[in-house]
Amino acid sequence: MLSTIEKIPGAEPLENPEQRTLIDQILEENKGIPGSTMVVLNSLQEAIGYISPAMQVYVARKLDEPISRIHGVVSFYSFFTTTPRGKHTIKFCIGTACYVGGIGQIIEKAKQVLGIEPGETTEDGLITLELCRCVGACSQAPVIVVDDEVMGRTKPNRFPKVIQDIKAQEE
Ligand code: FES
Repeated sequence: MLSTIEKIPGAEPLENPEQRTLIDQILEENKGIPGSTMVVLNSLQEAIGYISPAMQVYVARKLDEPISRIHGVVSFYSFFTTTPRGKHTIKFCIGTACYVGGIGQIIEKAKQVLGIEPGETTEDGLITLELCRCVGACSQAPVIVVDDEVMGRTKPNRFPKVIQDIKAQEE
């Protein structure tokens, strides 16, 4: 009989021998340590770049935790992703000041320009859109963060330029 993992499509990290070794190593190092779930998930996010649904099932089984708990943690914290991130990340601050300052319109513009939703990556793997909490630059709301660069007082009509600049870096 197939295991749960083998029945899940797209479980690339678990099917890749090198990544599988890394995953098992991280789980082995934290086995039996109470409260190690966050440490394991953080290490997996860092080592693999994302935590696929199949990895969540695998971690739950290995740590003897309910899958709902692992899934709950992964979905709650924005630094965990369930698919690989693109080469560049654009984060939209949805803290109060940015929300009031109109981040919603910039998100709409981004969705329109790139054809993806926050949490998704463009098909060419270049850009991932994400939402984030306050980044401490409230006086410059609304704020986006392009890779590590904080950009304040953004406007929807400036968003296409942000994309152009990212693409220019790749040329
Ligand atoms: S609310 Fe966006 S930077 Fe603080």
